[in-house]
Amino acid sequence: MTDNIAREIARDPNRVLIFDTTLRDGEQSPGASMTLEEKLAIAELLDEMGVDIIEAGFPIASEGDFEAVSEIARRARNAVICGLARANFRDIDRCWEAVRHARRPRIHTFIGTSPLHRAIPNLDKDQMAELIHDTVTHARNLCDDVQWSPMDATRTEHDYLCRVVEIAIKAGASTINIPDTVGYTAPRENAALIRMLLERVPGADRVVFATHCHNDLGMATANALAAVEAGARQIECTINGLGERAGNTALEEVVMALKVRHDIMPYTTGIDTTRLIQASRMVASASGFPVQFNKAVVGKNAFAHESGIHQDGVLKNAQTFEIMRPEDVGLSASSLPLGKHSGRHALRTKLRELGYEVSDNQLMDVFVRFKALADRKKEVYDEDLVALMEAEASTAANERIRLKHLRVVCGTESPQTADLTLEIDGREESTRATGDGPVDAAFNAVKALVPHPQARLELFQVHAVTEGTDAQATVTVRLAEDGHIATGQSADTDTVVASTRAYINALSKLMVRRTKTAPGALSA
Ligand code: KIV
Ligand code: ZN
Repeated sequence: MTDNIAREIARDPNRVLIFDTTLRDGEQSPGASMTLEEKLAIAELLDEMGVDIIEAGFPIASEGDFEAVSEIARRARNAVICGLARANFRDIDRCWEAVRHARRPRIHTFIGTSPLHRAIPNLDKDQMAELIHDTVTHARNLCDDVQWSPMDATRTEHDYLCRVVEIAIKAGASTINIPDTVGYTAPRENAALIRMLLERVPGADRVVFATHCHNDLGMATANALAAVEAGARQIECTINGLGERAGNTALEEVVMALKVRHDIMPYTTGIDTTRLIQASRMVASASGFPVQFNKAVVGKNAFAHESGIHQDGVLKNAQTFEIMRPEDVGLSASSLPLGKHSGRHALRTKLRELGYEVSDNQLMDVFVRFKALADRKKEVYDEDLVALMEAEASTAANERIRLKHLRVVCGTESPQTADLTLEIDGREESTRATGDGPVDAAFNAVKALVPHPQARLELFQVHAVTEGTDAQATVTVRLAEDGHIATGQSADTDTVVASTRAYINALSKLMVRRTKTAPGALSA
């Protein structure tokens, strides 16, 4: 265990460490892959908001993962930076090569210990125990801070689990993570498991126990909190609950539950909760997984009161229907819209309230887009600005293709026709294409100018940002090519323009990825 973390827990036995795995387990969610720039921005925010440990990736999985973990390790100021490794020396060495640049590095090594998982490498109990001893010892020889996980712990025989946890502790692991890999456990059972390990395993009092829950039965948050009540002091979680299948424990949910119900769960975290909305929006935009409207804590409707009785109550006394204040999670208290007469100063102040710090140059660019939007839309709401900022972020890092001009003819007579001009790597090219509807026509025009026959459209999603017929639409497009997935996002009051921009954002990302994997293959 690194000094700072050991000190933190010793000073306050009720301090719960937050281990964020958005960039590892979260990114494992099919279609959620993120670019290096997006991962760096997310890691920076997690570090700033007080996440104790950031699991930055799985360094042996790909060059991209290795690069991301190394760069995050170099840049992190406070958080421990952790990489994942399977139970073999090659994985562990590669992981160490990536995390060693951090001020506070951690190696996290794991192996499946349940009967089903033991059968895969075809190891008997003794052989697996020996492997655990050897791999944790190897990791510990490289790094002072080693975390070990018996994958599928909640379906592992208790005697065997105690035996291997003891071996890992003796070999030098200072954090023992107990994963509910398939989201199978329930709160009472998860708590009993942690209690059992704390009581039975020699040396358990010298290490931190972590809980890592998946949400297959919708119990990940409850299971994690139950584990904390039983003595776990590290929660593994992701922003927006992103993760494989139904996802992981949501960071914002456990953190706010511990804050709001401190009376019955007297545990603290180091998280600045006013950054939660910003983190949620950033992860939604980078992963292309929008947050459901009724998502606890960070959903669009989490603080919206529709019914007259609720609205009346909240206006008289917010506590009648609100258990937390919007400001506590980073939603601005005032929601007065901006308009076309609003100046740069008002825009900067509003962006700051929404959690976006912009340089003077960025402000100039955003101001131009804001004015264009305000010209078309009488009132520009917080949601419009968020959509504008997220679309800007999705574009900036990957802009190989720019939309210069688009005119689409649509209506009851088909086919619909799109006239499109793109700037591709600095060169302007135009075409006309038809399609089954305006979006299809526009996408066909993009395909004609930038042929990409191998890429498959996996997702096309449209959301209205606000109400009213002049609302902006946020569009998400996901393309898959040769095992690579790229997600683009854009927002505009014109749905076809937003769709086309989102499509070319995703395509730009694919083009960037192609250059990384095969230099020179950039004829698209
Ligand atoms: O769910 C799981 O078991 C994991 C391990 C790698 C910790 O993510
Ligand atoms: Zn997991």
